Amino acid sequence: MEHDLLVIGSGLAGMRAAISASEISGNRLDIALISKTHLNRAHSVCAQGGTAAVLQEDKGDSYLLHAWDTVKGSDFLADQDAVLLLVRESPKEMIFLEHLGMPWNRTDDGRIAQRPFGGHTFPRATFSVDKTGQFEVQTLWGYLQSKENVTFYHEWFVIDLLIEKGKFKGVFAIEMKTGDLFFLKGKAGILATGLGMRCYSFTTYSLGQTGDGGAMALRAGLTLRDMEFVQFHPTGLVPSGILITEGARGEGGHLKNNKGERFMERYAPERMELAPRDVVSRAEMTEILEGRGFPGPKGLDYVHLDLTHLGAKEINSKLPLVREVCLKFSGIDPIEEPIPIRPAAHYPMGGVKVNLKGRTEVPNLWAAGEVANVSVHGANRLGTNSTAECLVWGRITGEEAALYLMRNGVKGTSSPSKEDLLGREEEIFSLFRERGGDPYLIRKELGELMDKYFHVIRSGEGMREGLKRIRSLIESSKEIQVQDSSKEYNTDLIYALETRNLLEVAEVIALSALRREESRGSHYRVDYPNRDDENWLKHTLVRKGPRGLEISYEPVRIKIWKPVERRY
Ligand code: FUM
Repeated sequence: MEHDLLVIGSGLAGMRAAISASEISGNRLDIALISKTHLNRAHSVCAQGGTAAVLQEDKGDSYLLHAWDTVKGSDFLADQDAVLLLVRESPKEMIFLEHLGMPWNRTDDGRIAQRPFGGHTFPRATFSVDKTGQFEVQTLWGYLQSKENVTFYHEWFVIDLLIEKGKFKGVFAIEMKTGDLFFLKGKAGILATGLGMRCYSFTTYSLGQTGDGGAMALRAGLTLRDMEFVQFHPTGLVPSGILITEGARGEGGHLKNNKGERFMERYAPERMELAPRDVVSRAEMTEILEGRGFPGPKGLDYVHLDLTHLGAKEINSKLPLVREVCLKFSGIDPIEEPIPIRPAAHYPMGGVKVNLKGRTEVPNLWAAGEVANVSVHGANRLGTNSTAECLVWGRITGEEAALYLMRNGVKGTSSPSKEDLLGREEEIFSLFRERGGDPYLIRKELGELMDKYFHVIRSGEGMREGLKRIRSLIESSKEIQVQDSSKEYNTDLIYALETRNLLEVAEVIALSALRREESRGSHYRVDYPNRDDENWLKHTLVRKGPRGLEISYEPVRIKIWKPVERRY
């Protein structure tokens, strides 16, 4: 198959990219949108609380205020020019969705409603009850139906990118329905997958979030940036890890320990429960480790998120999903009793290094959304800035890729050699060996060790041990065994390939974290408890070299604000 533009990944970033590439080309470019799930089931549907945008300048919000909140929230590691672009463009995306029919919550006078969120000094989370991502995806998906020049590849698992002589040529992919292996040729590409945190065991991520985009970028020689910074969402439901939106605290929910104290008073007296996530998650773990939590199943000790004072009307109208999830997965009704929660792996702040326009180091390949690191989140992302990033850089990369194709003429592209294709096929067949490592056990062990050594509170000794164990799992995964030998919908095979991807991403997280000898944002080390701007105000870069991972650093782009002490 051959298309002008391949968009890999179909969440908010991928869909928005396909739409903007299509529109700027007058709907003439031939665009493929490739997804390992059915297209409108990408993980973006799990985004709940809202999307950050400045919509109320008349009431005191401003671009600069949003940018300052984001930079301070990032513990000063975000590139400030990228942040300024995010805050300027995000409101336009809210209006774009509005025009497509997005069912935003409304104020009594009919304006788009916004709620408070952690680390934002103004209520700028634009929302649809507590299912914002779901409605945003549905809105874009509905609009995409009108684009006849966009071909949808539902349930195609992309294995690898092909980059030859410095140019993107296309992707190797398995059509899951038939089990056949294909090469899809593309004259340009946009990588818009997630960079999922399923390498952790207690996580808000859905099962399909296995870091595929990051791993394939790494194998193709691209650079991953700032991967040590993993966000832990303060309110993962115990014991499943399912997200309980920060919107619950935005609507007035309280965090309490086993003494009934609102413990955030000790850690962030001004912002309390609406401090940024790194601060709240660290506070929760401190309470738990110092014996002020509740004993939970399988060592998942927890604290309480109390919504009971909000009342049934408020909970049912603004947080219906929270109630439904609590009832179904924990047997708890938040109208009557507090919710057991603890920090859950939620989001990678790092990703594939791109420039301000979302271009990777390869001139005809862009990356957008979660898999990309345009550096707006630095060491800690503010809630609601990720869906904003997906939409903004989905649009930018779609336009940039389309302009590139129109400027350079839509020339044909070459296929990989027959040997390369056969080699890929053989590599996959080799997984159906008689005996070998069990991918399910490998992934279980990976989840446990990531939860233990690369969690909210880290130490050099622990991370060294963790990295050693990840590397030994990587060795075992070379001889992995896929037991199910059927071709159609072989989820066993996909699971094995995903496990390899997770291991590769986990190794980058571990190495980057071990090397960063300071505490900043979500990366807190007991052996280096302070931020060290003199030595560590810099981005971590990791790429695959001939002898394994190579690590280097580059400066942060500081445009307006010099780092200061962070207080909330
Ligand atoms: O809590 C939430 O609704 C999550 C939002 C986010 O991660 O941006």
